[in-house]
Amino acid sequence: MTGPESEGTQVRRAVCPGSFDPIHNGHLDIIARASSLYDEVYVAVMINRSKKSLFEIEERIDLIRQVTAEYGNVRVESFHGLLVDFCKQREIPAIVKGLRAVSDFDYELQMAQMNNGLSGVETLFIPTNPTYSFMSSSLVKEVATWGGDISHLVPPLVLEALSGRLKKD
Ligand code: PNS
Repeated sequence: MTGPESEGTQVRRAVCPGSFDPIHNGHLDIIARASSLYDEVYVAVMINRSKKSLFEIEERIDLIRQVTAEYGNVRVESFHGLLVDFCKQREIPAIVKGLRAVSDFDYELQMAQMNNGLSGVETLFIPTNPTYSFMSSSLVKEVATWGGDISHLVPPLVLEALSGRLKKD
């Protein structure tokens, strides 16, 4: 065995959760920064059957796996139910989230406090790179639907997947 576990230190794990429908450069920036801070980063893709998504869960996972492969310590999995249960099953003590603006803060604080109260898991907020602070998957999809240029907002693979999907519909 190599790495931190063989040296008797604990593997430092964190999770970046979300819907990722699809992943965009703002998400990727947070995942990349988390991957430089932790030994293992899980990207947890929420299965939400009550919300209509553009990409199926397996398509979202496949895109995230491909665009995060270069980091080497990022694992991508789906989850259903409570995020804290996902964390407990994998011994993940920290949730990493990007904060785009003050408007994100109220709800994020509530979730962080609820998750901490439920299981003791901590939430760490990383301020979003200002280049991406206006971005969301919904906006990316809306602009792409009407033919706007989103090539600077998503990885090339996601751009290709979006063009293919939006052409079909
Ligand atoms: O990308 P999104 O849709 O903003 O991500 C929201 C997500 C998945 C992070 C959040 O809805 C979540 O953690 N859902 C899991 C269900 C859960 O644990 N709910 C209690 C949170 S306090």
